[in-house]
Amino acid sequence: MKKGFRVGSNQFRNRKMIWTIGGGKGGSGKSFITANMGICLSKLGIRVALIDADLGGANLHTFLGISPPAFTLSDFIKKRVSHLREVLIPTPIPNVQLLTGAQDLLNAADAKSVQKRKLIRSIQNLDSDTILVDLGAGNSLSVLDFFLMSDGGILVVTPEPTSIENTYRFLKSAFYRRLKQSVSSSEVKTLIDGLMDRKNERGIQNPHELIKAVKRIDEADAQRIVEEAETFHPNLILNQARSKKDIEIGFSIRSACLKYFGIHLHYLGYIVYDQDVSHSIRRRKPLVLENSRSRAAQCVMEIASKLANSYEKGV
Ligand SMILES: Nc1ncnc2c1ncn2[C@@H]1O[C@H](COP(=O)(O)OP(=O)(O)OP(=O)(O)O)[C@@H](O)[C@H]1O
Ligand SMILES: [Mg+2]
Repeated sequence: MKKGFRVGSNQFRNRKMIWTIGGGKGGSGKSFITANMGICLSKLGIRVALIDADLGGANLHTFLGISPPAFTLSDFIKKRVSHLREVLIPTPIPNVQLLTGAQDLLNAADAKSVQKRKLIRSIQNLDSDTILVDLGAGNSLSVLDFFLMSDGGILVVTPEPTSIENTYRFLKSAFYRRLKQSVSSSEVKTLIDGLMDRKNERGIQNPHELIKAVKRIDEADAQRIVEEAETFHPNLILNQARSKKDIEIGFSIRSACLKYFGIHLHYLGYIVYDQDVSHSIRRRKPLVLENSRSRAAQCVMEIASKLANSYEKGV
């Protein structure tokens, strides 16, 4: 499966879409966005599978107003069921199914990459038009691998400097992991490993310098890096915007990603800070169903329709 899909591209007509929703920081709104964006897509007649891969703190069910499901990803990992579809449960919302994570899965997923690969393949094979995966916080290798499995990885950032910092770190980690997976020389792999450290021995600070250094080791790997950089197109949502200045942050992050890392980030849009979000969560009623005219719900719908746009172009 080709990675790096961007909204609006004609490249992926008539096929299933996978969106992973992540970002370094906890509490930025990933689960709220996953649940509500999924519901918006379902209202457009798209069959949606929501996957709660926040393996340490699965709570997507609460955003949908349902109790924790009896069957979880854990039953699949531990082979108590043989197909992932057996743990995909229906929800009261038409066209929306849920697959939830489990506390004990995180370690298992980190420890065994064979299991992780099997899980990723099974997710990719689920029978649904769209799969939205809530990744949870952090940038562990498992989270990065899940982020990279998608057509469109979506990062959720809030206007605080700490959240922005985490976003850059997450993007860098995901990008370098992707580069590392694409190259074959072990010397180049080691070189990429060292890049997260700003004071790396070779003083490499940006992709141009990296490509130059790799060319000296392995010409083919240098070419692979160029191709990967060209096709890595993660997406960004700025959540909890309280001002125009906050909204602008999305554009600044986009420019900085290109300038300093050579990453082509796509700014999907923003969601305003809105107390109705918290009210809806407390009532366990999804905002876009209970209060679809609220400002935050309108923003979520707008972003969801950008995602849905890729389907419209496909039919
Ligand atoms: N647009 C918004 N306006 C106001 N409050 C919001 C908005 N988005 C999220 N919140 C608040 O932020 C809280 C955290 O949201 P959510 O649980 O979706 O974050 P998360 O990124 O999934 O967190 P974690 O990484 O811990 O799983 C919510 O309980 C909600 O009250
Ligand atoms: Mg969450």
